[in-house]
Amino acid sequence: MAAGAHTSSEHKGSVEVRREGNVAVVTLRRERKRNALSTYMEAELLRALHTPELTSSRAVVITGGDTVFSAGADITELRDMTPAAIANYYRESGSVYEVFAALPQPTVAAITGYCLGGGLELALAADIRIADPAAVFGFPEVGIGILPSSGGVTRATRILGPGRTRDLVLRGRRIGTAIAEAWGLITEIASAGEHLATALTVANELAEYQPMTMSVTKQVLDASINASQSASLVLEQIAYALLNNTAPASGEPR
Ligand code: COA
Repeated sequence: MAAGAHTSSEHKGSVEVRREGNVAVVTLRRERKRNALSTYMEAELLRALHTPELTSSRAVVITGGDTVFSAGADITELRDMTPAAIANYYRESGSVYEVFAALPQPTVAAITGYCLGGGLELALAADIRIADPAAVFGFPEVGIGILPSSGGVTRATRILGPGRTRDLVLRGRRIGTAIAEAWGLITEIASAGEHLATALTVANELAEYQPMTMSVTKQVLDASINASQSASLVLEQIAYALLNNTAPASGEPR
């Protein structure tokens, strides 16, 4: 755990999971600190991802509430970490970004306000990103002498392409929703104040599909990014054969 890590009493209950039908809604609740992702909060999020409310859901929405998504890693914890402590961090609470990305259910990030640094890394780990018009995105890490390191460089490169990722990461600049949408960082701009409602609508659509269809398709989508074209084509075909064999017969409910 990071030096100067926060104690549990300081922000207990900073991550909430609730169910809305088949959809699990995960809310970051540390708005006073702009949902800064302390190691404690990351550990809470990791725990939330293993709760029965979440594991039995068919789609997941992640949100920061009504004013902010997340201002990123808790900068008060970033000092004095040795390389060994950082390696350990990524084995513990820092693994949450990859655990979230690997969820079998489809995931939707409902974003408003600041979505910076680790907050943007978390959003990029979701399958779909929907934002309020007032959302602001960026990687401010260079300003404090570091770089996005919880999947940010890796995922942004794959989602936005190398040129736009360099622009965001090296300049440390912030962009609004118009550019974010044009760059493919977000898939939809919701009406003002409707980011969560819009994300829930999309999540409910996703929850209608067979869980097996969603999870296998997500695995193929992930693997195809790094696989050779021939390997990816074979993977699609084998996954199709598997899903075709497990799909409900036509006319049966999904
Ligand atoms: N880590 C820890 N605390 C943070 C934080 C972060 N990343 N971002 C905000 N906070 C805290 C502030 O210290 C402040 O705490 P205080 O009220 O006890 O003083 C509180 O959240 C509100 O922040 P404030 O800066 O007053 O809000 P703002 O709306 O004017 O600005 C930001 C919001 C996000 C633009 C600004 O807080 C900021 O730049 N944060 C750092 C972002 C960053 O560098 N993230 C990447 C880390 S790698």
